Amino acid sequence: MTENISNKRVLKIEDLNKTYGSNHVLHDIDFDLYEGELVSIIGPSGAGKSTLLRCINRLVEPDEGSKIYFLDKDITKLSKKELMSARREIGMIFQHYNLVNRLTAIENVLHGKLGSYSPFRGIFSLYYQEDIDKAQSILEELGLSERKYYRCSELSGGQKQRVGIGRALIQNPKMILCDEPIASLDPQSSKVIMEHLRKISKESNIPCLINLHQVEVAKTYSDRIIGINSGKVVFRGRPEELSDEDIFKIYGASLSEILA
Ligand SMILES: Nc1ncnc2c1ncn2[C@@H]1O[C@H](COP(=O)(O)OP(=O)(O)OP(=O)(O)O)[C@@H](O)[C@H]1O
Ligand SMILES: [Mg+2]
Repeated sequence: MTENISNKRVLKIEDLNKTYGSNHVLHDIDFDLYEGELVSIIGPSGAGKSTLLRCINRLVEPDEGSKIYFLDKDITKLSKKELMSARREIGMIFQHYNLVNRLTAIENVLHGKLGSYSPFRGIFSLYYQEDIDKAQSILEELGLSERKYYRCSELSGGQKQRVGIGRALIQNPKMILCDEPIASLDPQSSKVIMEHLRKISKESNIPCLINLHQVEVAKTYSDRIIGINSGKVVFRGRPEELSDEDIFKIYGASLSEILA
């Protein structure tokens, strides 16, 4: 997919820098993301993966001069109102799900629509019937029909993360950002989540940019991998291009050491 020019570019990052005080965390990051792609970002703890993802929707403010084009709008130049509207087109999936535990699975999915509702509808959770229907069909697609009226506190980690995916999908996102979506899950649940994300990128053409700790998972599911170390891109390429030497550049350790 590296050179896929038939697909539309959704994200273009250029000269992205982020500094916290005197700590220069991200250095001149640049890469693109195209429709239909699943791209993983790998790197050791503290490399800057979460900061990078958060800069994309400005949960963290990038340094002056950074450029983040999302569908040709520079995210860094948007007003507050324009940013809110851009964020509605970006689905976010988190390691710890960020669900409301006392609400049901379907209510949590519907929460993904609240940003586009009037304050009155939002406050009273007056969901439109078409959104309720859509939430049902998304939960069905995610294999959660039988759990839709369960409170999230009654779901397993893997089920919660599927609800998290549902909440992102109901926004009709143009891109999905995932920060360690499987870090809290067992291998079988991780597989289910990665397969759903892969399917979403391929069948719905929604690109997914995913921070991952597990090299093997990144290699299995990604079209492309971006490796970062100390805030710098030190590898970019297809999974089969990731050599032992590249792994050492990214992690400062061999794969067997990482796995140990
Ligand atoms: N809000 C903040 N204020 C100051 N420094 C921060 C802040 N957030 C992150 N950092 C620093 O930025 C660097 C990158 O952190 P980040 O969380 O992006 O790494 P990461 O690659 O996501 O790590 P992990 O794999 O552990 O999640 C770290 O040195 C961290 O201490
Ligand atoms: Mg992180």
